This record gives sequence, C-alpha cells and structure tokens, in this order.
Amino acid sequence: MKKKKIVVFSGAGMSAESGIKTFRDAGGLWEEFKIEEVATYDAWTKNQKLVLDFYNQRRKQVMEAAPNEAHKLVAELQKKFDVQVITQNIDDLHERAGSKKVLHLHGEIMKSRSSISNHLIYDLKEWEIKQGDLSEDGSQLRPHIVWFGEAVPEMDTATALTEQADIFITIGTSLNVYPAANLIHVVDSSTPKFLIDPGDFNLDYIKNLTVIKAKAVEGMDILIKKLNEYI
Ligand code: APR
Repeated sequence: MKKKKIVVFSGAGMSAESGIKTFRDAGGLWEEFKIEEVATYDAWTKNQKLVLDFYNQRRKQVMEAAPNEAHKLVAELQKKFDVQVITQNIDDLHERAGSKKVLHLHGEIMKSRSSISNHLIYDLKEWEIKQGDLSEDGSQLRPHIVWFGEAVPEMDTATALTEQADIFITIGTSLNVYPAANLIHVVDSSTPKFLIDPGDFNLDYIKNLTVIKAKAVEGMDILIKKLNEYI
C-alpha cells in the first residue's frame, strides 16, 4: 500500500535541545553579533572576514552538536510514511539523524559556494572557510546560506511538496520569517496539521490544526502516538 506523505516543516526550535540557540531565545543575537548585521549580502561586501568568522563559529557549534531525540523520531517516521523534511535550519542534524529527504530553505552551513555563481556548491569537511579559499571560478568561497533579503530559491519546490502533503507537521518555528512561514497557509484546509512548540500561537483561523504545546522532543513523543491513526 502506498505510504501517506508527511511534510515536516522545522525551525530553530527543532535543534534547541541539541544545544543550538534559537534566534528568538538568543534575542536575535548570535554571541555578540546582531544576526541582521552579519547574515546579509551587504555585510559580506563590507566585512567579509566578520561574516566568514560568524559562520565559522556557527559551523563549529553544529559539528560539535548531535541530533536530538526529536530529529531521530522524525527520521523514524520514514518507516511508516513517505517523509519530506522542509527546514529553515542550516544545520545538518536532520540528515545526521537519518532523514533522507531534507530540503533546506535557508541554505546549509556544511556547504560553501562561489560568491558569483549559485551553482558552484561544495561540501565542507573543515569548520572554517578562510579568506583566500577560492571557488573554481576564482571567486572567494562564501557560506551556502540564504541571507536576509536574498531570494529563497527552493521556495517553489517547498510549496509544491507541501501541497501534496497528507499530513503537515511544523516543529520549532515562530512562523515569523517569510516566505518560509507561508507554507502553513499552503496546506489544504482538509489536511491534518500539527504544530509542536512551547510558545504561544494565535492560529485558531487555521482549520484541522492540533497544537502540541511542548518542546520538540516531548512533542514528537506525543505526536507519534497520534499518527498511528493515520497509518
Ligand atoms: N522545542 C521546540 N520549539 C522550541 C524549543 C524547543 N526546545 N525552544 C524554542 N522553541 C520555539 C520557539 O518558541 C519559537 O517559536 O522555536 C521557535 C524558534 O523561533 P525562531 O528563533 O524565530 O526561529 P525560526 O522560526 O526558525 O526562524 C526562522 O529566521 O533568523 C531567521 O533564517 C533564520 O531560519 C531562521 C528564520
């Protein structure tokens, strides 16, 4: 029998229990940096070394972190469902937990790319991108991250995948940042939706939504039991 399609849409809260701070909890700060001041193309043109160092620090933290139980439970869903993860996170914890289909809307910290062509993308083994590390086109390598104000190239793919979902699960995102946050509005009104987050949301206007007010690990435990009805 064909497996039902689940879309899991995750945000920074998914990785909070792996020790990686969310943007809101960090008060929009990352260590001493204001995220809007370093995660922009303007910052890259003005102070390339600052931006490289900022992402080198985050990359080191991701490499030292481990997938948490929630990442693992999402990967476990693949046994009974056709699971597509769509994440705003730049870490690779979903993949390291065993999720096979992961679409990153805001880029991937473990990849670098040419700073003049979006198509020259490289896997990173080291934690650092240094000034002088060049792409094959001779340009300085940059983090393969979608900065504020840059286009979100995977958005159309994400929308198409979300439209096909039989079940939609959103975990650990404040749904503050567009266009990514639009995804919850793309889901068919008749499709069962679940939101796992310890924060408060006012989404009563969304039909067929079950809110599980909990952190990702506890919330996924609760959700797994509910999903048995849909197998
Ligand atoms: N488990 C689940 N959710 C949690 C946990 C946890 N342990 N701790 C916090 N949260 C929730 C918060 O309540 C909040 O709703 O995670 C959410 C984090 O929201 P943000 O920090 O805004 O992160 P996110 O929604 O992923 O931000 C989206 O904004 O800064 C940009 O590009 C960046 O991808 C990011 C985007």
